[in-house]
Amino acid sequence: MTLRTPLLVGAWLAAVAASVTPVSAQDTSASPKRPHITGLSHAAFYVSDVEKARAFYKDFLGFEEPYSLKNKDGSLHLTWIKINDRQTVEIFPEKEANTDRLYHIAVETDDAEAMRLYLQSKGVAVPAKTAVGQIGNANYFIKDPDGNIVEIVEYKPDGWTAKNKGKFMPESRVSVHMTHAGVKVGDLEASLKFYIDVLGFKETWRGSSNGKVLSWVNVKVPDGTDYVELMLYDNEKPLAMERLHTVHHICLEVPDVTKTEQLLKTRKMPAECKAPTEIKAGVNGKRQINYYDPDGTRVEVMEPKTFDGKPVPPSTVPPPHAKAATS
Ligand SMILES: [Fe+2]
Repeated sequence: MTLRTPLLVGAWLAAVAASVTPVSAQDTSASPKRPHITGLSHAAFYVSDVEKARAFYKDFLGFEEPYSLKNKDGSLHLTWIKINDRQTVEIFPEKEANTDRLYHIAVETDDAEAMRLYLQSKGVAVPAKTAVGQIGNANYFIKDPDGNIVEIVEYKPDGWTAKNKGKFMPESRVSVHMTHAGVKVGDLEASLKFYIDVLGFKETWRGSSNGKVLSWVNVKVPDGTDYVELMLYDNEKPLAMERLHTVHHICLEVPDVTKTEQLLKTRKMPAECKAPTEIKAGVNGKRQINYYDPDGTRVEVMEPKTFDGKPVPPSTVPPPHAKAATS
């Protein structure tokens, strides 16, 4: 048996202490704080014909296309439609015909790597590292409980988003703000855990189209005004593809939908587009029109306030397939 001298024991204790110290640091990093989520960055849609999509988003809605990326073979990989300095619609040539048009939605954070570590600590599947994309922004994908892809984006100072600040925002654009994007949700409880408990969103309103079953729940980013609209459906009845194209949508805010309608009547809507709806106040009390891109993706155009200035109280009806109360 080897006897340790006091000196050796002291050294050993010091070594143990040194090895213990980082554990408390690890404990801290094991429960990191959530960085800010300041808004909706973009929604990305697949399109069957990029030229027709350009005719809709650029010529008809009046936005500009600041930049695009090509594949190695020279074909288009992705192009951007700019709404404002922090928001875009991303257009991807479709990989498969007659499929869901929504590729992903994206939220902006002020620290993508800290968010990755935070999400990891909450058990969300994240990539091994935070990558910087071809346009110089930090980003990666996660998935919500319904499988909707949610991209986490941090605009870097030398990224193309920041470099193009103040550019590509013509007077012709119908809106300067995308207030929300809608995603399908079959399990409201799981989605609320994800968006509210993990990501820190706050529920602002819920509504029902028929007064019997809940249709929509709006959850706002924790550090801004933009929101994700959880579009509830009965997950025992799969959504028809055409329905999915309108469930998955974006909403552009306008001060006066009548003026927007009048303006858009002076422009050429691509022949492939479904006719827009009439102006009406929705269940949420806000006047709106729905337009449809050439692939049927719904672009909701809506005023920021209710038509009579009065708040519409949230619905209290249950979501589709709400679990029976257990007592
Ligand atoms: Fe909406």
